[in-house]
Amino acid sequence: MGTERITRRTILSSAAGLAGMALPGTAFSQAAGARRVIIDTDPGVDDAFALLLAMRSPELKIEGITPVAGNVPLELSLPNALRMVEIAGRTDIPVAAGAKAPLQRRLITATYAHGENGLGGAVFPAPKIKPIADPASVFIRQVVRKYPGQVSLIMLGPQTNLATALASDPDLARMIKSVVMMGGSLSGGNVTPAAEFNIYVDPEAARMVFQSGIPITMVGLDVTRKTALTDAHVKVLEAANTPVSMAAAKIARNDIDLNRKAGNASGPNMHDSLALASFLDPSLLKWKPYYVDVETMGELTAGETLGYRPNEAGLRGSAPTLAGTKTSTMLRDKFVPNANVAIDVDSARFFNLLIGRLAGKA
Ligand code: BDR
Ligand code: CA
Repeated sequence: MGTERITRRTILSSAAGLAGMALPGTAFSQAAGARRVIIDTDPGVDDAFALLLAMRSPELKIEGITPVAGNVPLELSLPNALRMVEIAGRTDIPVAAGAKAPLQRRLITATYAHGENGLGGAVFPAPKIKPIADPASVFIRQVVRKYPGQVSLIMLGPQTNLATALASDPDLARMIKSVVMMGGSLSGGNVTPAAEFNIYVDPEAARMVFQSGIPITMVGLDVTRKTALTDAHVKVLEAANTPVSMAAAKIARNDIDLNRKAGNASGPNMHDSLALASFLDPSLLKWKPYYVDVETMGELTAGETLGYRPNEAGLRGSAPTLAGTKTSTMLRDKFVPNANVAIDVDSARFFNLLIGRLAGKA
């Protein structure tokens, strides 16, 4: 496979949190025919791992990164994304600031899992690079319109940025090649019994994405709960001693400690890295087509993802109330899937890919 060299600048030791040690930038070779992606993210411990994995993956032509408010407010998720770009020596990638709040709700963060700074409490210097001037939703539109039918969005946080772009441009959805999301669950949530965090934070945005007609692959808690990072993984990263591996190890060590203090025996799940990895190698997972819709009205269940399979009664919502004006409960009269949903994962193969690439020298 042919390769195209990408210009990289030398990474200073400070960017990797390794005081006093000069670390040269490593050459990154991007594969010819690499697939165009935008990574939408809220770093976030597992987002940081996913970003580093993406930037170490020659199969990807990363058109941009669009941080959003989620695990932490945008004031933290944006600089965290910029930090990862610097650490990976990929300052060729534009970063566009996204939404500060969900479409219709107050922001709920997940600092209980990711630490107050979003990186498990691991401290890195302030980034030197800046985001581009355009906001994320405008940037997404521009890139998708520049390469119609070629760009996939890898969604690792609340889906506010994409929903905003879709709302502003009715033709955009049919120009997006695919959406790969870490989001949702068909087996219960992690914020409420019903809802997974990314969908819980902005259910209205997620509903727009699921109903957009864009081909979707959903990597939800059903599989990402099987991806706990261990001390053994971190030791491999530390032994590799590269800027990327050391930054990942530092984030992991801090977050594992945070998890232990919170009473969780196992390390953080690599939710977002699994979604990214599924785009690189779908054979890591088993898949089943579903029609997925998002509950937005529930007092207790907003953000729940419901996966419909073929059903003789058609695809139905709740029965109409006596006071209601609706006469039909039918969502769809016949089963047409809108998402390929991951139902199982080969965790060992996934970790070989993730840790291998983060620890890789090339
Ligand atoms: C998802 O929520 C966030 O806390 C993680 O980064 C991941 O995207 C898991 O529910
Ligand atoms: Ca995330």
